Amino acid sequence: MMKCKICLIYASIVLGALMIIASIGIMLGGNLHSRIEQKLKGEITLTEGSKVFATWKDPPPPVFMEFFFFNVTNPDGFLAGEKPILTQMGPYAYREYRPKENVTFVENGSKVSALTRKTFVFVPEMSAGDPAVDLVTTVNIPAMAVMNKLKDVSFWVRSPIAMFMTSIKTGVFMTQTVHDLLWGYKDPLLSRMSAIKPEVDENFGLMLYKNGSDDGEFVYYTGEDNYLDYGRIHTWKGEKLLSLWATNQSNMINGSDGSAFHPFLTKEERLDVFTADLCRSIHMLFEKEVEVKGIPAYRYTPPRAVLASGKNNPENEGFCLEKGKCLDDGVLNVAVCRKGAPVVVSFPHFYLADNKYVNAIEGISPVHEHHQTFLDLNPTTGVPVRAAKEPRSTLNLIEFPGIAKTETSYSPVNPKDDDSAGKNGTFIGMTPVEKS
Ligand SMILES: *[C@@H]1O[C@H](CO)[C@@H](O)[C@H](O)[C@H]1NC(C)=O
Ligand SMILES: *[C@@H]1O[C@H](CO)[C@@H](O)[C@H](O)[C@H]1NC(C)=O
Ligand SMILES: *[C@@H]1O[C@H](CO)[C@@H](O)[C@H](O)[C@H]1NC(C)=O
Ligand SMILES: *[C@@H]1O[C@H](CO)[C@@H](O)[C@H](O)[C@H]1NC(C)=O
Ligand SMILES: *[C@@H]1O[C@H](CO)[C@@H](O)[C@H](O)[C@H]1NC(C)=O
Ligand SMILES: *[C@@H]1O[C@H](CO)[C@@H](O)[C@H](O)[C@H]1NC(C)=O
Ligand SMILES: *[C@@H]1O[C@H](CO)[C@@H](O)[C@H](O)[C@H]1NC(C)=O
Repeated sequence: MMKCKICLIYASIVLGALMIIASIGIMLGGNLHSRIEQKLKGEITLTEGSKVFATWKDPPPPVFMEFFFFNVTNPDGFLAGEKPILTQMGPYAYREYRPKENVTFVENGSKVSALTRKTFVFVPEMSAGDPAVDLVTTVNIPAMAVMNKLKDVSFWVRSPIAMFMTSIKTGVFMTQTVHDLLWGYKDPLLSRMSAIKPEVDENFGLMLYKNGSDDGEFVYYTGEDNYLDYGRIHTWKGEKLLSLWATNQSNMINGSDGSAFHPFLTKEERLDVFTADLCRSIHMLFEKEVEVKGIPAYRYTPPRAVLASGKNNPENEGFCLEKGKCLDDGVLNVAVCRKGAPVVVSFPHFYLADNKYVNAIEGISPVHEHHQTFLDLNPTTGVPVRAAKEPRSTLNLIEFPGIAKTETSYSPVNPKDDDSAGKNGTFIGMTPVEKS
């Protein structure tokens, strides 16, 4: 029912645009096509009073964010050498409000700067459980982050923390309510760390501080000068390039923020979208023509190349920050984007990822129809005709001493083993899948 409301709103925008075409058609007669194009290119700009400005500024609710979790059901078995067995939990749906604020036209109206403040409100009737009571067992991300840091410090710093971790029984896994895991809880280990180093935040959550905050200031092209630039990002937080990744190519802020696309789309073009959440740009290519409630649309989807490793796609070389520790196809280490927390993202169920990831975990089965991200856009107006499906899953890339990696499974190192053996990084566990 909610989805239909979205459809209706999109439909009315598209119909509005088609009606402009019809009315111009009646008025003008000959030389129609190019005049329609001119008119539409003029209408689809971010200017006060334009057909699309109001919806751009205050996107008609409802927009929903759904979270899925993978519950690790054999934490003890895993530590004894079994494959992790995961069961999916969810969805936990939140209605997302994302009005643009501080909207200011700059440079004679050729650009507009804005903030997007996002607020999330839980919607029980669209959810499969109660986030306040449902427990999820997942990798103890704060503990992994701390252990990761401890590798590099002296024995004298390390040993009291290690003793404390033992005393509070900090384990490889933790069990939290869905609400706390998402929106934050006070972590005893981080509290202890913050007593020593005040810059450490004692709270942890996958969406910590995201409710009611914005991703920073964006400056967009309005499309006044060139319709192809409609909605394209000029700068983010004042910068044209990020400084997180290893190459300029990886640091580029390409395309729009996913909420606006230029009119007169072609099947050949590459649609770039910058995702602040991942701190990178991705791109999508035409897949097929679809129809949503009678409105024609082009479906664009991200190709395998987007998350391919640098060795298979040189464009992506810059996303590997530690030579010799580059990941394989289908996963992106976003630790630099998460204050160092060991988090890696992939499409849900490792869709488009190297088989070794899929095979390492029980309960994972990537399916094109379910796990693919797509955008359905009306090719004439560039307007989305269906709420974008943007599924994404986050897993934790874990590096810590005491767990060794074998070809297909992950097992703890026997402490009696030679000290040089198996101190390599490994990964375990998946946390949530998001889709909007
Ligand atoms: C998740 O798994 C744990 C055991 O690891 C179990 O106690 C818990 O009930 C499971 N949660 C759900 C919602 O199934
Ligand atoms: C946005 O506008 C509000 C109120 O006018 C102001 O307090 C805030 O500092 C502005 N934020 C930015 C990032 O400019
Ligand atoms: C804005 O327009 C004025 C008058 O047309 C022009 O003098 C000025 O250079 C323009 N400024 C920018 C930043 O384009
Ligand atoms: C987010 O903030 C809003 C307003 O402050 C509140 O109503 C809502 O419950 C919060 N959402 C979550 C998930 O805590
Ligand atoms: C990266 O971009 C910066 C700023 O545009 C430029 O100064 C620098 O030379 C570029 N580096 C490379 C390797 O191209
Ligand atoms: C940004 O676009 C340029 C030019 O199309 C491309 O070479 C580069 O790989 C893109 N960067 C990302 C991160 O998508
Ligand atoms: C594991 O670590 C050892 C010692 O640091 C190193 O020689 C070896 O190449 C590493 N193995 C892998 C798979 O990274």
